[in-house]
Amino acid sequence: MGHRVHFSYFIIPFLCLFSFLVPSAYSQFLDYKFYDRSCPDLPVIVVRNVWEAYWKESRVAATLLRLHFHDCIVNGCDASVLLDDTEDFKGEKSTPVNRMLPLAFEVIDNIKEDVESACPSTVSCVDILTLAAREGVILSGGRYWNVPLGRRDGTTSDPKAVVQIPAPFEPLENITAKFTSKGLDLKDVVALSGAHTIGFAQCFTFKSRLFNFQGTGQPDPTLDASVLSDLRKTCPNKDSADTNIAPLDSVSTNRFDNAYYGNLVRNTGLLKSDQALMTDPDTAALVNRYRTNPRYFFRDFVTSMVKLSYVGILTGEKGQIRKDCRFVN
Ligand code: HEM
Ligand SMILES: *[C@@H]1O[C@H](CO)[C@@H](O)[C@H](O)[C@H]1NC(C)=O
Repeated sequence: MGHRVHFSYFIIPFLCLFSFLVPSAYSQFLDYKFYDRSCPDLPVIVVRNVWEAYWKESRVAATLLRLHFHDCIVNGCDASVLLDDTEDFKGEKSTPVNRMLPLAFEVIDNIKEDVESACPSTVSCVDILTLAAREGVILSGGRYWNVPLGRRDGTTSDPKAVVQIPAPFEPLENITAKFTSKGLDLKDVVALSGAHTIGFAQCFTFKSRLFNFQGTGQPDPTLDASVLSDLRKTCPNKDSADTNIAPLDSVSTNRFDNAYYGNLVRNTGLLKSDQALMTDPDTAALVNRYRTNPRYFFRDFVTSMVKLSYVGILTGEKGQIRKDCRFVN
């Protein structure tokens, strides 16, 4: 009898400990070495394919980064943004906000094809997209970071859910609310916005700042005058110019650096949502910090990218490993 009492005093705390730890650790468990044994060629395959595409068209780096963001911010990182429409299915990919450089989707397909021949049904499309986004940052001159792996692909994609993506016309509070609803915070908003140090935006995404800001019939008073006249040349006030593009960072367009933050301080941010980071004292303080100290920016960007890559992930038995990133199995 004495023995049994002893035994249960000893074992019950352990059982409790494990019953709490196991499910939560399991559901969020990612690992840098997840494919080290099962697909050792993965890193090389990703690098080779992203490089190849980058030499063809350097913008692909920016598009991959944006694609990864749009995947994660809409119902979690699950490669839902990669699913093609079919006769009886319409997903996020064909929505206007996800019409991106076709080359970015082709890179993912090419990586997947190579990976399937090296290690079939092993590597998820969402992990491929996450790695490809990191590779794009590196090719553009950004700092390296380790990508935790082991996410699994979703089996659904909801076109209506793209409203979860922040729009450039929204006030800063709304954009922040969209981030916080995903477990990201104000610092993540400012650090991740630094992704706009590469890539381009179509004229319609900032046109109202040039000609008719908030119905005033005047340009946005917070937009620098010389930038205003340059942008009016790229984006004349007619519908046919709406899909012309301007660089998000005109100082160092293809370079992943902290110039984006300098632009904001000089009132030359391209999107209203970029420039809005200067309107709140907390975000403006971070902007100034990242402008003056690139190392802080790189450090916080990496931290926030890893955080973003954990949003709403599927692991363990959930989801699947797609054979073709465009279709569920
Ligand atoms: C903070 C809220 C954000 C807003 C309102 C926003 C909005 C936009 C808009 C309007 C464009 C241009 C789209 C077009 O021309 O159709 C764009 C491009 C881009 N965005 Fe964002 N974005 C945000 C955050 C982010 C984040 C967090 C990332 C990545 C971590 C990101 C990465 C990019 C990149 C790299 C491009 C250029 C893509 C290319 O050239 O193909 N953005 N964004
Ligand atoms: C900002 O969010 C509020 C509250 O959700 C909403 O009513 C408003 O329409 C949003 N503004 C924009 C421009 O999307």
